[in-house]
Amino acid sequence: MPVSSIIHIRQLNKYIDTQEQKVFVLCDSNSYKHCFHILQEHLPGSLIPIKVKTGESQKNLVTCTYIWEQLIKNKAQKDAVLINLGGGVISDIGGFSASTYKRGISYYNIPTTLLAMVDAAIGGKTGFNFGHLKNIIGIIQNPEKVVLHPGFLESLPERHIINGFAEMIKHALIDGQQQTNKILSVTNVRDYLTQTNIFENIRVKQKIVHRDLHEKDLRKILNLGHTIGHAIEYAALKNKKKILHGEAVAWGLIVMLRMSVAKLQFNQSKAEKIIDFIKKHYSKPAWLQLYRKDILAALIHDKKNTRLNINMVLLKDIGDARYNVVCTNDEIGKIWRSI
Ligand SMILES: NC(=O)c1ccc[n+]([C@@H]2O[C@H](COP(=O)([O-])OP(=O)(O)OC[C@H]3O[C@@H](n4cnc5c(N)ncnc54)[C@H](O)[C@@H]3O)[C@@H](O)[C@H]2O)c1
Ligand SMILES: [Zn+2]
Repeated sequence: MPVSSIIHIRQLNKYIDTQEQKVFVLCDSNSYKHCFHILQEHLPGSLIPIKVKTGESQKNLVTCTYIWEQLIKNKAQKDAVLINLGGGVISDIGGFSASTYKRGISYYNIPTTLLAMVDAAIGGKTGFNFGHLKNIIGIIQNPEKVVLHPGFLESLPERHIINGFAEMIKHALIDGQQQTNKILSVTNVRDYLTQTNIFENIRVKQKIVHRDLHEKDLRKILNLGHTIGHAIEYAALKNKKKILHGEAVAWGLIVMLRMSVAKLQFNQSKAEKIIDFIKKHYSKPAWLQLYRKDILAALIHDKKNTRLNINMVLLKDIGDARYNVVCTNDEIGKIWRSI
């Protein structure tokens, strides 16, 4: 399956014909309010909005059922198109709903959060949460195109900008010294979010997904910082604390860097420079050390693990990520105390 190309919103009307096709637009209340009219300017003609509530709690089967009902009610045929206009929640459930309706209609991702622009909208992973399990049901199906319009970020709250920026830091570390240096010199994150810089960052994920769509091997490196990040999110949920995914990943990257120094001889002063930068942008949750036990216990459940070993993605150097590095709970626990 070829990787989806990225186009600018100005080019969208070359690919979608609102006269010939029924075009549905999945939005949540925020993306409808702030972004739908911009899409309509670039894609004049009839667009049928499907509106859902905002938030991770909507990423479930009930919402997918609602989307299918709307498609059926409006007589969507095989040539209908679904545009996912929103953050990662919208692209995850919209991508799944489109890929399963009539065994698959084409869909476009138009990400409106930074996290979705650089991560969720790219790479074809779709799905929803079921029971207490995140992303447990889903399929991999690439969108027709990913449509980039950094202007959507103007209405995005600051906390969500910083949230998505964590994935940009991750991509830069995977990519190499040049992009990492650019990121480390950022003082104002919003100023950095130009079309060129966002595109350069997306390319890191795209290249990897192109080589390993189904995460058999190489794609695992995109989990850099995520072993610990997911464990932090789990501990937050268990203890009723609120943390965004990117905020947890940022602290996951800090632990990953110290582990990389300990296990793969990653250069210590390089690591500390990056850690200082991350700490400047991500304040430490007051409860982080308090729930150390929960976080370490959660590591055992991480999807990348085999038996009792914790498989982490670590850096041998910037631009040289290694997956399946076997670490123990004790090793991570020791590093944890140092952050
Ligand atoms: N499929 C993948 O590969 C992948 C990768 C990373 C994350 N994800 C998923 O993405 C989700 C997180 O994505 P997210 O952070 O974008 O969350 P989100 O979709 O909940 O969006 C965050 C918030 O921003 C609001 N919003 C969206 N665009 C806006 C805009 N332009 N202006 C103002 N507000 C706006 C939304 O209404 C929401 O309140 C998670 O469910 C995660 O599992 C998927
Ligand atoms: Zn992530």
